[in-house]
Amino acid sequence: MRDVQRVAIVDPSDATREALRNVLLGVEAIWLEAECARYEFFLEVISQSVPDVAVVSLDSDQTKALQLIAQLTSELPEVPILAVSARGDGQTILQALRNGAREFLTVPIVLEDLLKALSRLQRSRASDNKNGEAPVKMDSLVIAVLGSRGGVGCTSIAVNLGATLAQDAHHNAALIDLDLALGDADIALDLMADYTLADVALNIDRLDLQFLRRSLSKHSSGLSLLPHPVQMEDAGLIREDHLQRVIGLLRASYTHLVLDLSKSFSPTDITALRMADLILLVAQLDLTSLRNVVRMLATLSVEQGMADKVQIILNRVGSDTDISLKKAEETIGKPIYWQIPNEPKPLIESRNHGLPLLLYAPRCKVQQSIAGLAEAVCGKPLQAAAKEKASRWGGLFSRR
Ligand SMILES: Nc1ncnc2c1ncn2[C@@H]1O[C@H](COP(=O)(O)OP(=O)(O)OP(=O)(O)O)[C@@H](O)[C@H]1O
Ligand SMILES: [Mg+2]
Repeated sequence: MRDVQRVAIVDPSDATREALRNVLLGVEAIWLEAECARYEFFLEVISQSVPDVAVVSLDSDQTKALQLIAQLTSELPEVPILAVSARGDGQTILQALRNGAREFLTVPIVLEDLLKALSRLQRSRASDNKNGEAPVKMDSLVIAVLGSRGGVGCTSIAVNLGATLAQDAHHNAALIDLDLALGDADIALDLMADYTLADVALNIDRLDLQFLRRSLSKHSSGLSLLPHPVQMEDAGLIREDHLQRVIGLLRASYTHLVLDLSKSFSPTDITALRMADLILLVAQLDLTSLRNVVRMLATLSVEQGMADKVQIILNRVGSDTDISLKKAEETIGKPIYWQIPNEPKPLIESRNHGLPLLLYAPRCKVQQSIAGLAEAVCGKPLQAAAKEKASRWGGLFSRR
């Protein structure tokens, strides 16, 4: 389970309090600690539970609400206050902030704005913390898996990396299949999903976190999947702004998002690359793949900050080739971040059985290498990922 922010709200109006409650309940990282319908009682309520954030709605009685904010600020200075109001005029905002509110949001609340405000409050609270506790992280790691040619191993890496990341008890991992026309992550996990990216796109205007989370199918490995549309023609329904919203919202619920991209550099692929924290560019030791890696790095470096996010993964190392690793690195002009051995049998069989390697062949060399990759991208040892990593093959095939 990820860290949870405990929130208490006060709003005398049943209707707006319920709307606020529903938005908050949709966010997995939030625990609704207390709800109060009277400004007069709120201080007493939260004095006992001391939540991480107090949300004060101004609209039932602005004077009382502003007095309450001032009182809370002086008596419980450690509890940051988020003021909310349908009146977003400068005067109201100014008064709320002057009385001690740290953040202000206008109603109806936009989920993304709420998440950002809560994240800011969390960070400021952590840095205020005299005990020097590390700030609590709400962000997740978004990993885009990008291929340098067809069949280079993106889906195998995305699925197995996602399933491996999902093994850690502290993780909540999801895979989005962005190979919109021909993706096969659903086959690799043998999942018949009720919803796909097309359903999410069609409902984008009423999308909230609860709806979105219900749209993902959970595999027995713990990995959640949002598959590509069933009908090929529905691929066109998914626009860049849809994907931007979906990834933005999923970040609030999942610690790790793995994106299996198409090979067409489509607008949705570009959006995914922009939103990713890490781009795993998958290559093999052949001319087509290496030449494309060079071209792709050149294209990506046009956009600021993009090339820096790219790490090269060399897949199927050990298969027949006359191109050396050294030559590949010279050609690409960048070190190889990770090497995954060539091991066709478990790869083909696990795909045909619809199982990730850690369930089908947990001891195989590729899974050992993927486990090491999962640790490397997290920057720390995973708790429950296969621990036998790299004893034999890591030395030969993997390196950081
Ligand atoms: N490390 C590996 N060792 C052996 N075979 C592998 C390895 N990685 C992938 N393969 C095989 O390569 C083939 C293509 O893999 P995969 O579908 O993962 O690639 P892809 O880049 O997603 O392809 P596409 O362009 O169709 O999306 C599959 O048959 C898979 O079993
Ligand atoms: Mg694929």
